[in-house]
Amino acid sequence: MSTAISPTAYNYKVVRQFAIMTVVWGILGMGLGVFIASQLVWPELNFGLPWTTFGRLRPLHTNLVIFAFGGCALFATSYYVVQRTCQTRLISDKLAAFTFWGWQAVIVGAIITLPLGYTTTKEYAELEWPLAILLAIVWVTYGAVFFGTITQRKTKHIYVGNWFYGAFIVVTAMLHIVNHASLPVSFFKSYSAYAGATDAMIQWWYGHNAVGFFLTTGFLGMMYYFVPKQAERPIYSYRLSIVHFWALITLYIWAGPHHLHYTALPDWAQSLGMAMSIILLAPSWGGMINGMMTLSGAWHKLRTDPILRFLVVSLAFYGMSTFEGPMMAIKTVNSLSHYTDWTIGHVHAGALGWVAMISIGAVYHMIPKLYGRTQMHNIGMINTHFWLATIGTVLYIASMWVNGITQGLMWRAINDDGTLTYSFVEALQASHPGFIVRALGGAFFASGMLFMAYNVWRTVRASNPVEAKAAEQIAVVGAH
Ligand code: HEM
Ligand code: HEM
Repeated sequence: MSTAISPTAYNYKVVRQFAIMTVVWGILGMGLGVFIASQLVWPELNFGLPWTTFGRLRPLHTNLVIFAFGGCALFATSYYVVQRTCQTRLISDKLAAFTFWGWQAVIVGAIITLPLGYTTTKEYAELEWPLAILLAIVWVTYGAVFFGTITQRKTKHIYVGNWFYGAFIVVTAMLHIVNHASLPVSFFKSYSAYAGATDAMIQWWYGHNAVGFFLTTGFLGMMYYFVPKQAERPIYSYRLSIVHFWALITLYIWAGPHHLHYTALPDWAQSLGMAMSIILLAPSWGGMINGMMTLSGAWHKLRTDPILRFLVVSLAFYGMSTFEGPMMAIKTVNSLSHYTDWTIGHVHAGALGWVAMISIGAVYHMIPKLYGRTQMHNIGMINTHFWLATIGTVLYIASMWVNGITQGLMWRAINDDGTLTYSFVEALQASHPGFIVRALGGAFFASGMLFMAYNVWRTVRASNPVEAKAAEQIAVVGAH
């Protein structure tokens, strides 16, 4: 296939901006994760100040890692993938730039307001109404840029990765707008439009689908592009990817009630959520298998390519957390796991093992291409990062399993006379070693990000404007 240089070029500026901010917010969000993990080991680190308490910094951590780090990774990769697979430039540079600056403004707003204590109190939807409205505007613009670009495509079909990114964009808008319906009473305070059990159900419909569409579907879009690209193999089964897509998006939306087992939510709704969560194992594993099998005939590349290792290990953690999730959704299992560190371990199996690892792999893949370099500055350093991330994730998850099961069993233990065997504080004391191991695991993971920052900086610095400009040319070839 010959490669002709097209007169038009990709918009890589916005991709570069989001890619760099992925690394910056990753360091800050994970650094804050290590800090709040340390607060659970040494409570003195709360400093007795309201702004630095665990209760205020925890939601800042979740906002930074999910929306700042994960969000920037999704923007960067989706803008990159949609342009390359449609062989066309983003439909509007101005709107794309608006999504970048608007998104950063939302994040800076979170950094200011959350420590000050301004919060809706809804988990993962804490930002008060002025920021929530800004976020909605940015998001709708993002949808316009993404889908507008697809309409301009030079290719006949729409590559499957774009289907996943598209669903993630549409459903996230729907969730955000519905869950944020509220009545503002002042500039920094609003009350939810819903009440009681309805409010809880809407919130966890949002919360679970934030996991399903933000933390899963978007990253599956990433998987469908970067795994075949890095392995230099076509996706294992295009047919399976279509089945995977429709099954995943049809099922996820029903599973929210598994967050509300044994609450005031009607029992039938809880059981429906449980059943749907168990069925969800099938499409989740279908996707994982599709990604893994793409390596058929290319497994040997894992020996020498640490970027591929990041991508494949992320799929292994995806498989693990989507096996664990359905299990935890079973009501009897949930009666043990709920409120304990087991949930936290599950979250981070998905968050560190899946979301962060695949994002890191994708950014390592993109950076040299965005800056006209053949590869990252130091491949050995990527390998070091890989091991720090993998060991860190395993330490985090294993310690939280031990803690979670210990806590669940201690809380439910009763004496012959019906009184509790252990006080809450005793369960907390038993959790202390696990908290230390988790903080250590987190520190491993976060320090890996520092290696990444250095490596990215050296790669970018080695590039010159001519190389960077040349990288933007649309190469009109049969493959993407
Ligand atoms: C260095 C890495 C990280 C460390 C040390 C860390 C640490 C923590 C800690 C200590 C908590 C509070 C747990 C509790 O309340 O008992 C937490 C919560 C959370 N973190 Fe992380 N975290 C890290 C990375 C991430 C990443 C990359 C993500 C997402 C992509 C993430 C998502 C979350 C979520 C969603 C929660 C709330 C869980 C829940 O409410 O069940 N974390 N993290
Ligand atoms: C088939 C897939 C999955 C199912 C059925 C599932 C199920 C569950 C269940 C039952 C809980 C505990 C609810 C509770 O006791 O409160 C939970 C919590 C959670 N899961 Fe999953 N999970 C799945 C995959 C994932 C993945 C891949 C991620 C991350 C990328 C993830 C992130 C979370 C988070 C953040 C929470 C904590 C929510 C909170 O309480 O704040 N899950 N999940």
